Amino acid sequence: MSDKSIFILAIESSCDDTSAAVLCNGKVLSNVVANQEIHALYGGVVPELASRAHQQNIIPVVQQAIQKANIDKNQLNAIAFTRGPGLMGSLLVGTSFAKSLALGLNIPLIAVNHMQAHILAHFIEEESQTKPPFPFLCLTISGGHTQIVKITDYFLMEIIGETLDDAAGEAYDKSAKILGLPYPGGPLIDKYAQLGNPKAYAFTKPKVGAMDFSFSGLKTGILRFVEKNVAANPDFVKENLYDICASIQHTIVQILMDKLKNASKHTGIKHIAIAGGVSANSEIRKVLKEAEKKYGWNTYIPKFEYTTDNAGMIGISGYLSYLEGNYSEISTQSTARLKVTE
Ligand code: KG4
Ligand code: ZN
Repeated sequence: MSDKSIFILAIESSCDDTSAAVLCNGKVLSNVVANQEIHALYGGVVPELASRAHQQNIIPVVQQAIQKANIDKNQLNAIAFTRGPGLMGSLLVGTSFAKSLALGLNIPLIAVNHMQAHILAHFIEEESQTKPPFPFLCLTISGGHTQIVKITDYFLMEIIGETLDDAAGEAYDKSAKILGLPYPGGPLIDKYAQLGNPKAYAFTKPKVGAMDFSFSGLKTGILRFVEKNVAANPDFVKENLYDICASIQHTIVQILMDKLKNASKHTGIKHIAIAGGVSANSEIRKVLKEAEKKYGWNTYIPKFEYTTDNAGMIGISGYLSYLEGNYSEISTQSTARLKVTE
């Protein structure tokens, strides 16, 4: 490789996945993710257990990422890490590790905003991805966030709509819990929905601002619906699981699309991207693609491996900051709360 190659090691530990990636000039050479299975036993992420699992995973995950990238750690130009938002105990593991390595190798440290990183994953050099031009809108849908963001430049973002209560991922996971499915239930609802009838059951959509979201009413609606039907037939969920999942998924995706349409109309922007864990969902990916013809949109759907939490997206954000000479002080602190605009 030429002398101009910039190698970034990225570390992500904001929630329950420990991930490390190595990028060269914006191209992902390795992207290792260790999922923490332990949380399935508890039906949700247990912060203390997540922090402990990160401590166990971080060294082997980083070692694997460097090995897979086939480079020597002395070739690294900078270390990028997730500063927030996320679980404090989880963030601290990645932050401390990144700081120590940057100090040891005497290279710059770059703090990354996890929510910006989900969006900036669209700028990873990847044959299967087209980069969106500025300005574009991004529907960021994850386990903790649901927002429509207007992106004017890499680090110039504005929230134009967001959830007033639960995130889209929570709507999936909580619905799954009501149906007795293990955590995280989003991918399972997606899988079963593909075998069912999306019009089998109707759930009411929330009445909130044109570009805002609310999912807590839907969760209560699903709970009441299941309670009522199970009282009449204890096997109701088992017998109708595919149709229930398809109907829940249809409702969530319709809500997301309605808001996106409103946002596109309001801003006049027709370059529309999705990002975050829920953007792995097969239905939203399909419906968004169909919207190209229907509404004249250009849509941008991230490669599957860059949807749920991964260090590849932290790496591209770090690389873009590196190009701007935007490094972080060694005293930079993790923060549980951080807006996409910060
Ligand atoms: O972005 P992410 O990995 O973590 C956060 O930053 O929150 O998102 C995780 C969320 C979980 O709620 C999970 O159930 C959901 O993404 N998810 C899905 C799918 N894959 C992951 N939801 C629906 N369909 C999927 N295929
Ligand atoms: Zn995330």
